Amino acid sequence: MFAISLGDDGAELRPLEPYHAEEYLAHIDRGREYIGRFIGLADVCTDLDSARAFLRSYAEKAADDSGRLYGIWTADGTLVGGVLFRTFDAAAGTCEVGCWLEEAAVGRGLVTRAIRVIVDWAVEERGIHRVEWIAAAGNAASIKVAQRLGLVRDGVQREKYARGGVRHDVEIWSVLAPEWRELRAGAR
Ligand SMILES: CC(C)(COP(=O)(O)OP(=O)(O)OC[C@H]1O[C@@H](n2cnc3c(N)ncnc32)[C@H](O)[C@@H]1OP(=O)(O)O)[C@@H](O)C(=O)NCCC(=O)NCCS
Repeated sequence: MFAISLGDDGAELRPLEPYHAEEYLAHIDRGREYIGRFIGLADVCTDLDSARAFLRSYAEKAADDSGRLYGIWTADGTLVGGVLFRTFDAAAGTCEVGCWLEEAAVGRGLVTRAIRVIVDWAVEERGIHRVEWIAAAGNAASIKVAQRLGLVRDGVQREKYARGGVRHDVEIWSVLAPEWRELRAGAR
């Protein structure tokens, strides 16, 4: 099993695979309400079979090179969230990244650190030119991550989707490869 350290607190980024289904379901059950305020990630994971099916769908995306899924484990060995390439198109040079955490794990920079790892890989190893971040305009925590990472707000798609009986505006944020390299050089 390979793991990438996310820093001194012992958190690690690892591939999240179908064999993690039980652990993933337990994590989603702990975070279901918090995670589900703006996104449907937890909705498609209601029991062991659906958890396995979701993880399998990303194993298939990875095999097709059209998406990937990574879990974030804290030092005590608990799966607390993850980051993903929801879409990945190497030929077009574009991808969309996403993230989630159970509430107990927010406020520590876990997702910001994990997203940096996967965007570095997308840009430097896979030649991705444009990385997108798509979030409901009301999802303040997600928008803050995009800002913290240095992404640029492209625009808003008004009332794009319905959730919780409300239609939400969606913000599109992005970073281009040269901008990312500049940001990373600045951070060093
Ligand atoms: C979006 C979401 C992942 C953001 O979680 P988060 O913990 O705020 O994000 P990070 O892990 O990057 O942590 C950033 C926070 O940790 C703090 N932090 C501590 N150490 C840090 C570090 N080394 N690096 C960066 N931030 C750090 C930051 O100041 C920030 O806190 P603040 O918002 O109070 O200023 C979380 O709210 C979530 O899972 N929401 C539900 C699912 C969801 O909506 N996903 C997004 C879909 S678009």
